Amino acid sequence: MATKVLTLVGSLRNGSTNAQLAEATSHHAPEGVEVSVFSGLETIPFYNEDLDVEGTVPAAAQSLRDAAGDADALILVTPEYNGTMPAVLKNAIDWLSRPFGAGAVSGLPTVVVGTAFGQYGGVWAQDEARKALNIAGAKVLEDVKLAIPNSVVRFAELHPKDDVEVAEQVAGVLKAIKEIAEAN
Ligand SMILES: Cc1cc2nc3c(=O)[nH]c(=O)nc-3n(C[C@H](O)[C@H](O)[C@H](O)COP(=O)(O)O)c2cc1C
Repeated sequence: MATKVLTLVGSLRNGSTNAQLAEATSHHAPEGVEVSVFSGLETIPFYNEDLDVEGTVPAAAQSLRDAAGDADALILVTPEYNGTMPAVLKNAIDWLSRPFGAGAVSGLPTVVVGTAFGQYGGVWAQDEARKALNIAGAKVLEDVKLAIPNSVVRFAELHPKDDVEVAEQVAGVLKAIKEIAEAN
């Protein structure tokens, strides 16, 4: 059976280089790996324990939980906003972290990658995302990293899926995910 990988993208804008990187990941998925990109992160309300009541969880949040629950692994593709991850991704992690100890992300092999304009490619955002995911109970693959600098310049003319170096890098990420997911 195929390894199902769910991807969450931290940028909501049209033409997002991170959304393009997620497309590249899907495009270069090796045989036996299915990559889907979750759509609708922006429709999920800010996490609120008053809303997180069994039976009346907001549909968009439930849909995220169901998608993560159905996945064998998770990839977060994040830009860096002011030195950390965008709020939309932190909100997704919060929803996936509850119920405490049994959230949809609990034990799920998870990788954080991304591209940002700065020279380090958003490593602060990625480190913060890994920290939050670890606390949320995900099985974070700490050694599987991909941070691509100069996002909007690097990918101004060339889509990441057509960039040979990126193609190799995302294939490596997916290979590592497949091995861990199969052993999980
Ligand atoms: C609100 C905001 C804050 C940003 N802060 C950072 C930052 O701290 N570090 C960085 O490298 N780039 C920063 N950037 C630039 C983004 O990394 C860059 O625009 C990136 O391409 C956004 O991702 P996207 O192309 O997927 O939308 C920031 C951009 C915005 C809009």
